[in-house]
Amino acid sequence: MSNLNILILERIHSSGIKLLEKVGSVNVHLNLPKQEIYHFLKKANIVICKSVINVDKEFISNAPKLMLIGRAGTGVDNFDIDLLKMKNIPLLTVPTGNSISAAEFTIMCILISIKKTVKAINRVKKKDFRRDLLQGRELSKMTVGVIGLGNVGKMVVDRLYPFGCKILAFDNKKNCTQNSLKEFKNTFHVDNLETIFRESDIVTLHATANKESFGMVNKALLSHAKKGLILINTARGRLLNNSDILEAIEKGIIKEAFIDTLYPEPSYDETPESFSFEHPFLDHPQISIFPHMAASTEDAQKRISVDLAKQIISFLQKEII
Ligand code: MLT
Repeated sequence: MSNLNILILERIHSSGIKLLEKVGSVNVHLNLPKQEIYHFLKKANIVICKSVINVDKEFISNAPKLMLIGRAGTGVDNFDIDLLKMKNIPLLTVPTGNSISAAEFTIMCILISIKKTVKAINRVKKKDFRRDLLQGRELSKMTVGVIGLGNVGKMVVDRLYPFGCKILAFDNKKNCTQNSLKEFKNTFHVDNLETIFRESDIVTLHATANKESFGMVNKALLSHAKKGLILINTARGRLLNNSDILEAIEKGIIKEAFIDTLYPEPSYDETPESFSFEHPFLDHPQISIFPHMAASTEDAQKRISVDLAKQIISFLQKEII
């Protein structure tokens, strides 16, 4: 097994790399231009990446020796899953590895928004102590719409409950009903997105990004929203129609947006000096952008790296020994 070439194209925690070094030669090449990626791909038996690299037809056709691909995390919207299946190349993921981190990050976004925390810190740095200009809200008096009840969405609902807010939850899976949500207190199942937007003060997205959901938060849906909505997206940038979001802010429909994942995604390893990334949300005063960091905790990254490495090793043991 030691001749195996394991190519890591996006940063993972060192603990998993140490495990992989026992089964092959591990090459870490971050932040490469496409042609250089393709150069290294020629020899790669196993590739590990996250959400930035597009594992599309071109990528796969440049990887003649690829036998396995590891996604250090959950989302697989950047992978051509059908083609990988057709070519019999398994895709290993760690679907729950960062759910707690992402759920906690979402709750943080909600709180910093309604408590005006960032504004307060920035004002006080300028010696502006006028607290009356910073009056926030109690979450207990608000309604939060949760879209998508997968691993992260469910944990968000769980963590919202102690705040006493009303929770509306939508998931497009047929088996999602009020009955299936009975373990979640204060939570009401809603079977359409329009109602979620009409009745919620805050909407948080936890849906899977795929062909059906790309651009789902658009002008038509936002036309149902309560004025002054707080929108949180710690799922995928592609769930939003960017120009419709900007228009909704202009019209006062959205008051504030907290966005952890942009589409397209920037590289997360560039220094600011070498950076030339543009996005219409970046300079908007009512949009707070994070560098896709909801899952970036020491705890989650270590868990994901070790879990993925163990899955890869167990796959190799079944295949090769
Ligand atoms: C995930 O899908 O695992 C998270 O969004 C974090 C990531 O992409 O690295």
